[in-house]
Amino acid sequence: MATYPEKRLRRLRYNPTVRDMIRETVLTKNDLIYPLFAVPGKGIKNEVKSMPGVYQMSIDVLVEECKEVEKLGIPAVILFGIPEHKDEVGSGAYDANGIIQQAVRAIKKETKKLVVITDVCLCEYTSHGHCGVLDGERILNDETVDLLVKEAISHAEAGADIIAPSDMMDGRIGAIRKALDEKGFYEIPVMSYAVKYASGYYGPFRDAAESTPAFGDRRSHQMDIANTNEALREAESDIEEGADIIMVKPAGAYLDIIWRVKEKFQMPTAAYQVSGEYAMIKAAGRNNWIDEQRVMLESLMAIKRAGADMILTYFAKEVAKYLDANK
Ligand code: PBG
Ligand code: ZN
Repeated sequence: MATYPEKRLRRLRYNPTVRDMIRETVLTKNDLIYPLFAVPGKGIKNEVKSMPGVYQMSIDVLVEECKEVEKLGIPAVILFGIPEHKDEVGSGAYDANGIIQQAVRAIKKETKKLVVITDVCLCEYTSHGHCGVLDGERILNDETVDLLVKEAISHAEAGADIIAPSDMMDGRIGAIRKALDEKGFYEIPVMSYAVKYASGYYGPFRDAAESTPAFGDRRSHQMDIANTNEALREAESDIEEGADIIMVKPAGAYLDIIWRVKEKFQMPTAAYQVSGEYAMIKAAGRNNWIDEQRVMLESLMAIKRAGADMILTYFAKEVAKYLDANK
């Protein structure tokens, strides 16, 4: 093998066009999924305090936003709903006229090819803010799965294109897959939040979704941040149960996990650059402590380089605009 001075890696770095030619990883609009928050009412567009540029929107505003997202060439959105009323069993989550069901119908009517993904969980809909039904302070797995199945079916009936369970109950992917198939929705893919850690990076999302647990935390169902082998077991069981797309979440602090999941299973793999990752880059950018656009692109490139095929990111619109301006 050649060594210095014959071998000079810088030869391919002097010329910007040559740099373009040898670039190994490329970020495109097709990599992007844009998260959106639906609230009841009309004409509402509330900025989330800890997430500059992210808004809770009423359905009329949300529909206009989705038209813009489609026009920008972003292929997909993922929807989160904040219901009018919350209760112990999260009824708003599986109400045929719930916030998400209405939002999906309105968006599908007003857009042409935008892929509408719905997040399936109960925490935005329960009065206690937990992801399932409770017995005292315990989240009951199997009883919760029954409700998640109802929620997934009602999203499919409203016209959702992809169902994304984020709850981390055991067995929910299989149960949802089976129910979708029985109802004739065998063409609707399931994007599983397969590897979801109990992370401090979700803080700003809980402001946006008004889903902070009233007591305790999510450690009895979300994964311990210290574990890797368990992540592979989580991914494997969701694949066996019929997941079409596997997600790792958060993304930036879990690049090793994205890499190992992709390497091992070779599945379409999504990564969620979560609210806290976004908030940190925004905050530092606003203070001029970092070049926000540059760090935004670098953070997304890292996630792609680690093996993600799709990235859920609050930066999606900004990235799409950047890519248009820098063709
Ligand atoms: C609901 C859900 C959460 C996120 C996505 N779906 C919050 C949580 O688990 O507390 C977090 C997304 C983000 O932080 O951007 N289960
Ligand atoms: Zn939840």
